[in-house]
Parts: sequence; C-alpha cells; structure tokens
Amino acid sequence: MTEPICVQKAPYAVELEAGDHYWCACGRSKNQPFCDGSHTGTSIEPVKFTLTQKEIKYLCGCKTTKHAPFCDGSHSKL
Ligand code: FES
Ligand code: FES
Repeated sequence: MTEPICVQKAPYAVELEAGDHYWCACGRSKNQPFCDGSHTGTSIEPVKFTLTQKEIKYLCGCKTTKHAPFCDGSHSKL
C-alpha cells in the first residue's frame, strides 16, 4: 500500500467547468490538484467526480480528507 504525499496543508480553490474531473489522490501529480497519471506504479487511483454546472470547489491538497476529493478540514490536524 503506497501512502499519499501531502502536497500542501490547505485546499485548492478551483473554478471548474461542468463535466468529469479527476482529483489526484496520490500527491504525485505535477498538475495539482488533478491527476496527471503519475500514480502509475502505486496502489492509489484518482477520484473521479462530476459537476453539472460551472462551480468553485475546494479540493483537498493534503490528501488526507475523508471526503475526497473535497477538503473536510483534516489538514488542520497535520
Ligand atoms: Fe495522483 Fe493520478 S497522479 S492520482
Ligand atoms: Fe486536505 Fe483540507 S486540504 S482536508
């Protein structure tokens, strides 16, 4: 089991278009907070989520959220 890497102890506020998005769960992507395929070789998979309209979302940057892909405040305990 590979551990995720904490990228930052704060969420990413991102304005996203409607449609499918893939949040990086492993912390290895160079295109945070989105998956760029760098999880290959780990046991971690990206988390797909779908928006029905353009929205601002707060995506977890610490990779310890229990409510992926969204920040749930867990970064405050790191
Ligand atoms: Fe992190 Fe794909 S690069 S989940
Ligand atoms: Fe990960 Fe807030 S940034 S829980």
